[in-house]
Amino acid sequence: MSHNYKFKNLFDRYLIQLKNAGVQSPRADLQILFSFFLKISVGDVRKKIILDDKINFDDSSFQKLINLRISGIPVQIITRSVNFFGYDLFIKEGVFIPRPETEMLVEKCLAYFDFLYSDAMDIDYDFVGTLNILDLCTGSGAILISLINEFNQRLIDCFGVGVDINPTAIALAKKNSANIKEQIDLIHADATIFQAEKKFNIITCNPPYVPDYAKLNGSAEFDPKIALYGGGEDGTEVPKKIIENAVNFCLPGTFFVMEHFETQADEIAKHFLKCGFEEVSMITDLNNQPRFTCGVYNG
Ligand SMILES: C[S@@+](CC[C@H](N)C(=O)[O-])C[C@H]1O[C@@H](n2cnc3c(N)ncnc32)[C@H](O)[C@@H]1O
Repeated sequence: MSHNYKFKNLFDRYLIQLKNAGVQSPRADLQILFSFFLKISVGDVRKKIILDDKINFDDSSFQKLINLRISGIPVQIITRSVNFFGYDLFIKEGVFIPRPETEMLVEKCLAYFDFLYSDAMDIDYDFVGTLNILDLCTGSGAILISLINEFNQRLIDCFGVGVDINPTAIALAKKNSANIKEQIDLIHADATIFQAEKKFNIITCNPPYVPDYAKLNGSAEFDPKIALYGGGEDGTEVPKKIIENAVNFCLPGTFFVMEHFETQADEIAKHFLKCGFEEVSMITDLNNQPRFTCGVYNG
């Protein structure tokens, strides 16, 4: 049943519930739940808090969403959506939920491209031809879809191929990329042995890399195991095989970037070098942990 409330009071009431239940990012999650429930943007939820709008609100229906979150279900599963790099994506149980830190991988690709091909104002780009992007272990398509959209905004002719071993992920990536379907090919395959007909200018990969011994909690409990564990003693077995196979799709100058665990940075960098990549460097995340390695193929 609906009642009239001051929005800030309402927000604080549910915030206390989430905090008391030990939810990891209660404020951000609550903003997303309100945005989903009220069918407005997260920005508009924040505006309502600041302006302390009056609102006619069905608190028993909303309480059901809060209870789901308190029971441990991630907001992305409750709302069946996630915002990644400013793009709204559908989420489905059985497919890895994209994480905010992976946005750095997208940023790095764009920064590298801009550094090579743009003028000082990032207005004119002198890349000629089609920019081919390969995203290995594409999951929901988050990385690839963001890159294609960003390159479209730069008016760069581009085409992306996404590969994943999980057919549910491929189906979801297709749904997420429906508006750019002419620019994307999504393939159900094992990235360690996959063979492509062409070569790519940019290769991205957020593979399964969690070591068997690592304890996971939070939304990882909802991710399929195949999206998480990298195999071998330290979780680098699948990532290393993917690096070895990626070489087959490289041109001289191909930029390759991979996400990994902070403890794997040295091992992954060594493997990049062994497989023929140069300018190998690590990228740290917001907590200053080495979470990404990139390199340029020397041909
Ligand atoms: C950590 S998730 C990353 C998903 C997505 N790229 C992202 O950043 O949100 C790893 C993905 O790799 C896929 N995967 C695991 N092993 C694979 C393999 N051998 N070949 C292709 N995909 C694989 C999983 O199904 C999962 O979608």
